[in-house]
Amino acid sequence: MTVDPAPRPVLIDTDPGIDDALAIMLAVASPELDLRGVTTVGGNTGLAHTTENALRLLHLLDRDDVPLAAGADVPLVRRDSRPDEGVHGDEGLGGVRLDPAPRGADTRSAVQLMTDVLAASAEPVTLIALGPLTNVAALLAAAPAAAARLERIVLMGGGARTLGNMTPTAEFNIWFDPEAASRVFAAGVPVTMVGLDVTRRAVTAPQDWHGLRGGGRTARALLGMVDHYTAYHVGATGSDRTPQHDALAVAAALRPDVVTTRRLHVDVECAGALTRGMTVVDVDDVSGAEPNTDVALELDADAFTRLLVGRLTDLDARLGG
Ligand code: RIB
Ligand code: CA
Repeated sequence: MTVDPAPRPVLIDTDPGIDDALAIMLAVASPELDLRGVTTVGGNTGLAHTTENALRLLHLLDRDDVPLAAGADVPLVRRDSRPDEGVHGDEGLGGVRLDPAPRGADTRSAVQLMTDVLAASAEPVTLIALGPLTNVAALLAAAPAAAARLERIVLMGGGARTLGNMTPTAEFNIWFDPEAASRVFAAGVPVTMVGLDVTRRAVTAPQDWHGLRGGGRTARALLGMVDHYTAYHVGATGSDRTPQHDALAVAAALRPDVVTTRRLHVDVECAGALTRGMTVVDVDDVSGAEPNTDVALELDADAFTRLLVGRLTDLDARLGG
């Protein structure tokens, strides 16, 4: 008789954000993960909106029990980072208005919440980072003993061969706070990088969500966000297939075999005029530098889409409304 492994304790740091929202839904829908806390960061939109969006999302999903704390609104060093608000709308969820949560954010800072969760956990905790890495870098700097209790950081960001969506050479999360990202890759904590090489192929099409039409409150929220996200991508790329960047990072924590990784050395360009925020991935080991990151280079796209759509459909049925 096979015994299911104990749920994997996770923290999620996020800037919701439409794809963040679907990623959080996937985490909540997955019994393999034990969501111990959520922290918010400025990125897709400002911190006030990302925090309110995360509170309302957890309320939508009957998870007001999950501690939530706000972190950094601005990057460690940069003063010229800005959200790309066309993608997610000015309040971050594509114009979808969720019911207010019955609580506000925790009075603790994001770093303090992460530190407390790490200290209280009997087993190592996986940190899933879905936005700019400002909070993660702050944790590593301010609470190294707590950070040493991390099992792994699974981050959505960067790219090895597929480099940029914010600039030709940089992916948004890394571009927004390159100094923070550089510190995370150099910290010595195990890191899985789920970058554009795989997330650009982790796409859903409108017809994938047809089973949710006529569903409950979760389905209505999801479809509203997906409709906005799809319209943006049709306008920007001509395609109605939308990259579920952040959900793939959650899927990689949930089911590691959904991606194929290679251990490679990664650092981040922080000074380049044309290359700010570029993840410099030594794919051919030309530098001889010690590999520090498990970089996702391939994915099982069909398995990912089945997992995401299937889990969110089941979640909607369970929550009803
Ligand atoms: O480049 C994609 C990443 O930037 C995703 O995390 C998306 O939510 C945005 O934050
Ligand atoms: Ca995000």
